[in-house]
Amino acid sequence: MEKSQGTLIVTGAAGGIGRAIAERFTVDYSDTYTGVFAVRNTSNPNTQLLRKILLKAKNPSTIFPLENQHPRLHRLSPPITALVLNAGYMSKRSQCLTEDGYETTFQVNYLSNFLLVLLLLQSMQPLHARVIYITSWTHDPSDPHSRALPLQSEMWRPFPDLAAPSCPDKKLGMTTLGLRRYAESKLWGMMFMQKLQSRVNAMPALRHICALAVDPGGVFSTDIMREQAWIWRQPLRGLLRVMTPCVQWVAPNGALRTAGKAARDILNACFEVDGTVVGRWPRGLYLNGDVRKVSSEESRDEVKQEELWEGSLKLVGLLEGDTALMLGVGGPNLL
Ligand SMILES: NC(=O)c1ccc[n+]([C@@H]2O[C@H](COP(=O)([O-])OP(=O)(O)OC[C@H]3O[C@@H](n4cnc5c(N)ncnc54)[C@H](OP(=O)(O)O)[C@@H]3O)[C@@H](O)[C@H]2O)c1
Repeated sequence: MEKSQGTLIVTGAAGGIGRAIAERFTVDYSDTYTGVFAVRNTSNPNTQLLRKILLKAKNPSTIFPLENQHPRLHRLSPPITALVLNAGYMSKRSQCLTEDGYETTFQVNYLSNFLLVLLLLQSMQPLHARVIYITSWTHDPSDPHSRALPLQSEMWRPFPDLAAPSCPDKKLGMTTLGLRRYAESKLWGMMFMQKLQSRVNAMPALRHICALAVDPGGVFSTDIMREQAWIWRQPLRGLLRVMTPCVQWVAPNGALRTAGKAARDILNACFEVDGTVVGRWPRGLYLNGDVRKVSSEESRDEVKQEELWEGSLKLVGLLEGDTALMLGVGGPNLL
């Protein structure tokens, strides 16, 4: 066993892409890094599968019950090299609020990541740390893959409507409403990465931290569509899953991708330093799999980014001193 040089944290680790990350991590990186695989339920069958995968890790890797445990993550040793914000949810129900009173997709896909990152900045390696948000092409209505979807060309809404939309338009149907909420949450995540990058750039102690986003592509072997209509969950998903390896062989970074390919791209974003795609300082980088891309126009709107940041700070109730970031200090947005 080699001495571990840093810690990788992955949220939503028991899910389809999370387990694929664990598989590749144990083979390619676990001699150099320690893995912390955060789950919300330590006893569900997917967590048992994850546990089996991690038995092969060369440095001890752990399954971590994330709920209410943020304080323990501060004491991680060695410090964090990469934090992968992978937990994600797509609903097909009418609007569903969390115990905290926020729309569920907003809280799972965006706000909990905002809080986690700000709390963990102090535990990151000062000279090399990356925060990687797992996004989706749905954040960009002009993306060729999104054009066929019933997304709105402008997704922004002011607070508090952004966190808990007041009056969903029932005429649209649950699938459309769920998809829109998902797309919006991915847009907030993209804006967060860009704003985070500009904030850490402005602080000498944190300026080596890089905030990135990776779109894993269409990965139909996972459970992300667990609430979708039967036709999507069963026959269509099964068909796409069978077709994926062939389609990926023809178009390696195309619309359909295996979980293994998604995991490889995400781990490259975490650890690659010498290559031409990620590079040594991938500040504010957006990757569609293994290709650099420009994120949606709306995600680059600095006024909206600032509004989202300030609104989110109020929602999570963080004060100066709760995070390594100076909350009042802005900075140039490099994107
Ligand atoms: N699959 C795709 O085509 C695709 C495309 C673009 C982006 N993505 C993104 O990739 C990421 C991974 O998704 P996946 O495809 O692997 O789907 P998945 O199999 O459903 O995995 C999602 C993970 O998120 C966790 N999660 C869901 N709700 C949560 C909550 N309330 N609190 C904490 N954890 C929660 C799930 O936990 P449990 O295991 O306990 O259910 C699961 O581990 C997501 O962010 C997704 O949006 C996926």
